[in-house]
Amino acid sequence: MERLLRQYKEQIEQQLPTYIESLQAPQTIKEAMLYSLRAGGKRIRPLLLLSTLHAFRKPIGIGMSVACALEMIHTYSLIHDDLPSMDNDDLRRGKPTNHKVFGEANAILAGDALLTYAFQVVADDKTISSDVKVRLISELAKAAGPEGMVGGQVADLEGEGKTISLQQLEYIHRHKTGKLLQYSVRAGAILGEATEQQLTLLTLFAGHLGLAFQIRDDILDIEGDEQKIGKKVGSDIENDKSTYPSLLTLDGAKKKLCDHMKEARKLLDEAKIDASLLHYICDIVETRDH
Ligand code: IPE
Ligand code: IPE
Ligand code: MG
Ligand code: MG
Ligand code: MG
Repeated sequence: MERLLRQYKEQIEQQLPTYIESLQAPQTIKEAMLYSLRAGGKRIRPLLLLSTLHAFRKPIGIGMSVACALEMIHTYSLIHDDLPSMDNDDLRRGKPTNHKVFGEANAILAGDALLTYAFQVVADDKTISSDVKVRLISELAKAAGPEGMVGGQVADLEGEGKTISLQQLEYIHRHKTGKLLQYSVRAGAILGEATEQQLTLLTLFAGHLGLAFQIRDDILDIEGDEQKIGKKVGSDIENDKSTYPSLLTLDGAKKKLCDHMKEARKLLDEAKIDASLLHYICDIVETRDH
């Protein structure tokens, strides 16, 4: 299991830079894009997509462009999230943040470039039929944009310095983090030719997984090891953010995480697919220390 995921990760990490290197663009922007893409990271979104394809017994190559596009959009979201006007963080993936190395203007542009290029990468994939491609692109735009990740980031910033309700916090988490993770599974299922019922179950599965993933992120912001997580511990407290631990206590947040993972695993079993890799990813999400 672990070996297969490692293989998938290697394939993604081989593919990602080739997309950037082939660009006819100023060297500065290519370097800034490559810097954050190459800095590492768990690659959970592309891995979820490829593991979902595996669950439908499809060759993972058919999802490679969308998997790389997802990682580009995620990486853009991190570059912008770290900017002084947002979370103002200096460390990401164990390295100085993009704006610390390339300056704020280039970091903003590198994010813009990764976001727009991601859509080009999918649109230019000749191996996916046009109707499936339009659906995948439309859903990706929705997951990343104002109804998705961007909407969550806005609510997250608006919640700084305030006490918000658990319901508002769930909105933030489901959007800023949940939507792209949910899309990862949906894209794999769509490319894997899932039935409508399987797609519904897997969407619900990924909803719980996405929430759990961000709850774990909140927990690691408190009790994580800076060396392991590759970002500064205590950023949320410094920015006066509402998080699961701040609303529910650390133990309450852990319980919530566990509840969501239980629900996620149950839904996964109902989908009647070869879910071994996805179950393994559930274990990672629940217990990860980075
Ligand atoms: C960090 O994402 C920001 C969140 C959405 C929680 P990841 O934890 O996936 O970061 P990397 O890609 O592994 O660095
Ligand atoms: C950010 O959430 C989610 C994104 C859309 C980037 P956080 O602000 O908690 O992510 P980290 O902790 O900086 O990785
Ligand atoms: Mg943030
Ligand atoms: Mg942040
Ligand atoms: Mg965080």
